[in-house]
Amino acid sequence: MVWFYRNKGNLGNDWARSHESILHFRKSKDFIFNIDEIRIPYNEHTLKYPVRTQADSSQFSNGKKNNYEWTPNPLGAKPKDVLEIPIISNGAWEKTSHPTQKPVELLRKIILSSSNQDSLILDPFGGSGTTFAVAEAYKRKWIGTELEDNYCKLINDRLSDKNQMARILSCKDEMDSHKRRIQLRG
Ligand SMILES: C[S@@+](CC[C@H](N)C(=O)[O-])C[C@H]1O[C@@H](n2cnc3c(N)ncnc32)[C@H](O)[C@@H]1O
Repeated sequence: MVWFYRNKGNLGNDWARSHESILHFRKSKDFIFNIDEIRIPYNEHTLKYPVRTQADSSQFSNGKKNNYEWTPNPLGAKPKDVLEIPIISNGAWEKTSHPTQKPVELLRKIILSSSNQDSLILDPFGGSGTTFAVAEAYKRKWIGTELEDNYCKLINDRLSDKNQMARILSCKDEMDSHKRRIQLRG
């Protein structure tokens, strides 16, 4: 998978960096994938023509005859394996002093889609503790390590900051009420 961002100033005389690779492995075919937690908006064309009849030869007809109609999922489209999330700007609510801090939204998508409450999450390179903060907010168990004492302190401070933790959860509240609004509209 790819984490893609547009908002990075790129100095120097080389390709401008605008992505990082996310290595994604599964131990077996029996895996957690909470797709509804991370659905994305449909594109304009789909919203304009939301109901489509599938020909029985179509790969989307699911073997049904050609009166099968596809309608968009009210919770949004299937997420893509390129996640577009801005890097954290100076002054953002989640910004810490760690130089390579990852955005909450990135970890939120990864953790909510691939774990359930009480699942165990390991991040050996704690940094600013984004993984731990998101895991804690969404009631996952977690284990982590961090080499530098000052970053360990940063992680402790972050996890004890009730405002930060509430803000992480409120991203989900906003998303849930957005989903409810869509469902109510029908
Ligand atoms: C890229 S940063 C992680 C950033 C983190 N994902 C975040 O959102 O803030 C990597 C971190 O791993 C730590 N680190 C490097 N080698 C380590 C090791 N062998 N054991 C534990 N931590 C290590 C570094 O001190 C650094 O803070």
